Amino acid sequence: MNLIEALKWRYAAKRMDGQPVAAEKVETILESIRLTPTSLGLQPFKVIVVSDKALREEIYEKACQQPQVLEGSHLLVFAVRTHVTQAEVDEYIHRVATERNIPVEKLEGYKEMIASIQQLPEDRFLQWTARQAYIALGISLTAAATEKVDATPIEGFTPAHMDEILGLKEMGLHSVVLLALGNRDEEKDHLAKAKKIRKSAKAMFIFR
Ligand SMILES: Cc1cc2nc3c(=O)[nH]c(=O)nc-3n(C[C@H](O)[C@H](O)[C@H](O)COP(=O)(O)O)c2cc1C
Repeated sequence: MNLIEALKWRYAAKRMDGQPVAAEKVETILESIRLTPTSLGLQPFKVIVVSDKALREEIYEKACQQPQVLEGSHLLVFAVRTHVTQAEVDEYIHRVATERNIPVEKLEGYKEMIASIQQLPEDRFLQWTARQAYIALGISLTAAATEKVDATPIEGFTPAHMDEILGLKEMGLHSVVLLALGNRDEEKDHLAKAKKIRKSAKAMFIFR
């Protein structure tokens, strides 16, 4: 299946059949997230991979009453950093220098660019980190489609409740979006065979 066929195959499944997604497919999807490009390479988010049934039930009851939370086999919670500490920036710069075999001093300018992000007010910092997480969301949706895994992005949840259930605040994290992985239930899902609705290319692109 080529990329465009995979993107036509995928849709945001509303109902899933409870069958588990194979571990190696989940691994591929997670690897696509790890390889996602981010601004300045900082990767300012983590993904909590929730497969435990009791935990998914708690999430369903308290933070997100959408069937995919229970009917999928893995719920990915994209959680952004609420701040980036100087120690983390130093560790990152050190890692770049070591892995690319360049002197740390050569990365001073780079470090200053990172400092300008660190100084953003909290709300703008969160917007910036969320944008990075959403790039990963998009790439993981594409990866899931190429693996023929159904994946539903979910913004309809209560982040404060999710943060509490997973203890995210204590880790300097804040949940922004979810991705439920599973297998579509073609019988129960009224959208399983529905035509994909998209703008035409003419309406979408402006060529100059
Ligand atoms: C960021 C984002 C948030 C979404 N949140 C939800 C959601 O909370 N629940 C849901 O069932 N679908 C959700 N969707 C799915 C969209 O409704 C769906 O992707 C859109 O209607 C296009 O249809 P398709 O993905 O099935 O082709 C979300 C999609 C995106 C990209």
